[in-house]
Amino acid sequence: MANVRLQPGEMIDGFTVGQRLHVGGMATLWEVTHPDHAIPLVMKAPLLNEGGDPAAIVSFEMEQMLLPRLSGPHVPKFIAAGDFEARPYIVMERLSGKSLVSHLADLPLAPDEVAELGICIALALDDLHRQHVVHLDVKPSNVMFRPDGAAVLVDFGLSRHGRLPDLMEEEFRVPYGTAPYMAPEQVMGNRREPRSDLFALGVLLYFFATGVLPFGDPLGMRPLKRRIWRDPVPPRRLRPDLPPWLQETILRCLEVEPARRHPTAAQLALDLQHPDQIALTARAERMKRDSYLAALKRRFDPGAVSVDLFGSSTAKQAADAPIVAVAIDFDHTPPELPGPAHGGWPGPGDLPRSPSCLPQRHRAQPDLDRQFARCGRAQQARHAADRAQALGGPARPRRRPHHLPCAGRARRRRGNPRPCPRQPGRPRHPGRAGRLDDAQPSGQRLGRNRRARALQHHRGPAAAPFDMIQAT
Ligand SMILES: Nc1ncnc2c1ncn2[C@@H]1O[C@H](COP(=O)(O)OP(=O)(O)O)[C@@H](O)[C@H]1O
Ligand SMILES: [Mg+2]
Repeated sequence: MANVRLQPGEMIDGFTVGQRLHVGGMATLWEVTHPDHAIPLVMKAPLLNEGGDPAAIVSFEMEQMLLPRLSGPHVPKFIAAGDFEARPYIVMERLSGKSLVSHLADLPLAPDEVAELGICIALALDDLHRQHVVHLDVKPSNVMFRPDGAAVLVDFGLSRHGRLPDLMEEEFRVPYGTAPYMAPEQVMGNRREPRSDLFALGVLLYFFATGVLPFGDPLGMRPLKRRIWRDPVPPRRLRPDLPPWLQETILRCLEVEPARRHPTAAQLALDLQHPDQIALTARAERMKRDSYLAALKRRFDPGAVSVDLFGSSTAKQAADAPIVAVAIDFDHTPPELPGPAHGGWPGPGDLPRSPSCLPQRHRAQPDLDRQFARCGRAQQARHAADRAQALGGPARPRRRPHHLPCAGRARRRRGNPRPCPRQPGRPRHPGRAGRLDDAQPSGQRLGRNRRARALQHHRGPAAAPFDMIQAT
């Protein structure tokens, strides 16, 4: 993989590079223009220094894989990506607003502002989770806003797509994340839990409400794990004017066990929209942390806290979440019920407290499987063949040749070229590669080989246990 050192005025695949907007630990961002695109654009390129963190390469490849598969108002629109081996970059829509970092000088914020931010970010997370993605790096610099107030999540370098191989998990044993915001299960290596994002949002809300990070900014694995057994100071102790419902919500997000947090980001958004309906528990009134003795007991009793390592996933969460569908026939209003024109139906003014981000239409849950299948090149090819057949073309073979399933490919990658013994009808090899979806674009697997070569060039000192550079 070539190192990408961009220069203002340079032309790359038709994009003219402008000003540099950001230099981070792993990437740089540049303003770019293209004659075919009227909207403002940015180009993100990985920072590849000799001996630098190899995670920069892997996380950039993850982002290149993920962003084109995401859609909707809560992510930047993907425009183009450069070949990973030759010239890696991502071009996306340039968001005009600022990130949440711009609020840090004004902390602590008023409780209503904190709640409003919480609603906007929870709605964005809900949209992301419905697209099978856990962000895993929710923090102020990765949250931006559209002019209409909708929150936009950026930086998917550490994210995990429930239906794609998780390159970060495959390549690194140490957990990656931003120390103050990492959920306990993420610290322990679980990258599948959507409610890890709710924990990070809880940290963010705590920080915005009190001006203090609930678990500090630990450096090293041991202090990072402390959050598993040591509870944070209740926010109302730091800020007594905070309403009990906000403390209840924040401390629920910060529960060690994901099952004790809100079941979904949508539920969290709903709670913050209707504070009067939040069921208050002992959390709401707590003014002190647990005694040090109680915390020590938790620390040394392995059964006291169960940090769920494999419990949930975006798919499980979507399956478990209750969906209530309500159909209202406005065209055939019964005479005894006056229609909206007569003030009988709720108008916009009657809607519950609605923050600026709520005008975003809440789309009905799409048929996720079909939506995802559209992304897979193999699947697209099958659909195209089916369509051609329907128009009188030749029928496509219904079954893959049995010597080419994923498990066989994985074996060859490990240097053993034996053909796969799988017979038609026999269950799929349960190995790692066998877990891949059939709709998986084959490019992902080629990507691994290229990445391995790139990593060989760039492997430097042992990777830091987590991303200690970007604490915001
Ligand atoms: N699409 C975008 N439009 C405008 N600014 C962006 C966009 N994406 C990111 N940024 C800004 O650039 C900063 C760094 O981007 P990010 O993708 O988070 O890079 P890094 O991996 O270095 O953290 C963000 O904090 C945000 O302020
Ligand atoms: Mg970032």
